Amino acid sequence: MVGRVSDSDTMRGLEEKVAIVTGAASGIGRATAERFAAEGARVVCADIDEEGGCETVRRISGEGGEATFVRTDVSKASQVEAMVETAVDEYGRLDFAHNNAGIAEEEAAITDVDEDVWDEVMDVNMKSVYLGMKHEIPRMLETGGGAIVNTASKAGLKPYPFNAAYAGSKHGVVGITRAAAYEFARKGIRVNALCPGITATGGISKWSESAVEEVCKGIPMGRMGRPEEQAGAAVWLCSDDASYMTGHALPVDGGDLRKLHREYKPGRISEVFDLSDEELDLPDQ
Ligand SMILES: NC(=O)c1ccc[n+]([C@@H]2O[C@H](COP(=O)([O-])OP(=O)(O)OC[C@H]3O[C@@H](n4cnc5c(N)ncnc54)[C@H](O)[C@@H]3O)[C@@H](O)[C@H]2O)c1
Repeated sequence: MVGRVSDSDTMRGLEEKVAIVTGAASGIGRATAERFAAEGARVVCADIDEEGGCETVRRISGEGGEATFVRTDVSKASQVEAMVETAVDEYGRLDFAHNNAGIAEEEAAITDVDEDVWDEVMDVNMKSVYLGMKHEIPRMLETGGGAIVNTASKAGLKPYPFNAAYAGSKHGVVGITRAAAYEFARKGIRVNALCPGITATGGISKWSESAVEEVCKGIPMGRMGRPEEQAGAAVWLCSDDASYMTGHALPVDGGDLRKLHREYKPGRISEVFDLSDEELDLPDQ
C-alpha cells in the first residue's frame, strides 16, 4: 500500500512512531514499510539490497511519508546494532520492529543439505531475530515499550518435506518470539510472530504456472496471499488495536494451515516438485 490511509481507516497508536522493517527492499517487507508509513509512522528500511531498499524509501517519500534506508546484513551483529542506532539517531526513538528478512534453501532432502547452506539459512532467518530483539528491546524500553513482529512462516508451525533448514529456522523464530514475549510482557513490549502462507513475492515467481495452480488448489481461499495482506497483519499486530496480544504465531494463509497434512501425500508433492513418487519415497499417511 502506498499513500496515507483515511482517518477512519487508521490503526491506533502508529502516528509519529518509529518502525524498523528488515527485508524492506521487496515483498512483504516493502509492503510493511509502506503500510507503516501510510499509518503515519516513520520507517527505517533495512536490507542487503541497497537498490531495492532505496526504491522503497522513494516510494514512501513520494506519498508524503518519512523513511530512511540503512544497508544491513541481518545476520551480522555489528550491522544490526548499527541499524537500531540509525533509527534512534535519525528519529529519536524506536517503537516497532518487523524482523522480516529471510531466505529459503533449494528443496532437498536433509541428507543433501550442505552445512554452509544450513548455517546461512539459520543465520539469516533465525539468528537475525535474536540479534534484532537484542538491540531493539533496550531502545524500546527507554521510551516505555513497543511491539515486535518476527516473520516466521506457515512452515514454522508445520514443516514441509525438503525444506528442513527453512522449517527449522522458522520453528526457531516462533520459539524465540514466545520466549521474548514472556520475558517482556510486564515491561510494555509485545512480541508476536507472523506466519505467512504462500504469498506472491519474488521467490515464488520462480515457480512454474502449474506448480502455482496446484498449490492454490489446496488453499481453502483458492489463491496465494498478497504482500499487502501480510503487511496489514504485521502492522496491526504492532498497533494499539492488538494491545492484548503477545506470544502469538499468527497464520495469515487463506485457511491453508489446517489442510497442510494433505501436502504430505506423495501424489500432490510429486506434482508440485516435479518428482516421481519413487524419488520422493515418503510414507503413505
Ligand atoms: N512469500 C512467501 O510465501 C512467504 C511465506 C512464508 C514466510 N515468508 C517469509 O517472509 C519474509 C519475507 O519474504 P518475502 O516473501 O517478502 O521474500 P523477498 O525475497 O521478496 O524478501 C526478502 C528480503 O530479505 C532480504 N534479505 C535476504 N537476506 C538478507 C540479509 N542477510 N540481510 C538483510 N536482508 C536480507 C532480501 O534482499 C529481500 O529484500 C521471509 O522471512 C520469508 O521467509 C514468505
